[in-house]
Amino acid sequence: EEIAPQMTHKRCIELPQNLPRDKGWMTEHLVLYQGFWLTPDSALKAVISIQNRFYPRPSDIFLASSPKTGTTWLKALIFATLNRTCYDFSTHPLLVHNPHDCVPLLDTFIHQNDLESWPSPRFLSTHMPYTLLPCSMTCASSGCKLVYVCRNPKDVLVSKWKFMNKLRPKHLPPLSLDEAFKLFCEGVSHYGPYWDHVLGYWKASLENPEKILFLKYEDLKREPLEGVKRLAEFLGKPFLVEEEKAGMVQGIVRLCSFENLRNLEVNKRDVIRFSKDIVVENRNFFRKGNVGDSENYLTAEMMQLLDEITKKKFFSSRLIF
Ligand code: A3P
Repeated sequence: EEIAPQMTHKRCIELPQNLPRDKGWMTEHLVLYQGFWLTPDSALKAVISIQNRFYPRPSDIFLASSPKTGTTWLKALIFATLNRTCYDFSTHPLLVHNPHDCVPLLDTFIHQNDLESWPSPRFLSTHMPYTLLPCSMTCASSGCKLVYVCRNPKDVLVSKWKFMNKLRPKHLPPLSLDEAFKLFCEGVSHYGPYWDHVLGYWKASLENPEKILFLKYEDLKREPLEGVKRLAEFLGKPFLVEEEKAGMVQGIVRLCSFENLRNLEVNKRDVIRFSKDIVVENRNFFRKGNVGDSENYLTAEMMQLLDEITKKKFFSSRLIF
C-alpha cells in the first residue's frame, strides 16, 4: 500500500497566538481553536500536527470519541473483533494489556512519522472533533473508516468530573461539581462543547454511513451482541455463521465487559503514559460503567438544565438521548 510522503518531524509546528482561553479542569487552561476547547500544550499541538502532516491509509480504522463516552470499551471491542482470528480468548492480549496500550491515541503522535512504519491495517483512536479532522481523513475517497461513540451528556459530565479529580495534582483542591457543571454547560471541556462534538459526527454519519458508524454507549450496554455484530459488518469483517455458532460474539462481549476488564491485574495496578505529563492509573478508566449514574450526583435542577441544553442543541438533528 502506498504511503504519502510525510514531512520531517524536525520542522516546528507553528501555534496560533492569542486564542481565547478559559479555565481548565486540571492545572492547565484550555484554548478555543476552530470552535473547540483544547489543552494548549498537548491537544492543540497534536491537532495542528494531524491537520498538516497526517496521511491516512485507505485501510485505516479510527475510533473517534469525546473523552469519557466509552473509548476504553470500544477500543477493546474493536481490537478484539478485528483480531479475532489471531488470538485465543484464554491468552488474549487484552487480558494482560490495557485497551489503551493496544490501541494508541492518534492525538498523542505529534510526530506523525512514528506511525509510518506501522503495518496495515492500522487501528487508532482520536478525540478530535469531526470538523477539525484533515480532509484526507474525512473525504469519501480516502477509504478509511471511523467509528464514533457518544453517550448521554449527563453521564459524560459526571464521569469526566470524577476522572479529572483523580488526575488533578494533590496540591490542588478538588474541582467542585458546581464548577465542573458550569464549565461543561458552557462547552468548556476537553474537545468540547460536547454537543458540538457529537453533532459533527452525527451529521457526517448521516451523509456517509458507509464511512462513519455512529454508536451510542447506552445502546451498546443494552444490546452488546448486536453492537459487536454491527461493528464487524461495518468494518468489512462480518461474523461467519460458524463463528457465531462457536460463540465468538459472546466471547468478545465477555472479554471486553466492564467486570472482566476492571478485575484484571493489569487494570488494577498498571499506569498508562499518554505523554510526558499525562500518566493515568489504569484503574481510573473503570469506574462504574453504568447508564444513568449521573442521577446519583446531579441535582434535579442540574439534570433539567442539561436536558434543556441537549434538547435545544439536538433539536434540528433528530438526535435523542
Ligand atoms: P463511568 O465513569 O460512568 O463509570 P472513556 O473510556 O471514554 O474514558 O470512558 C470512561 C467510561 O467508560 C467510564 O464510565 C468507565 O467506567 C466506562 N467503561 C470503561 N470500560 C468499560 C467497559 N468495558 N464497559 C462499559 N463501560 C466501560
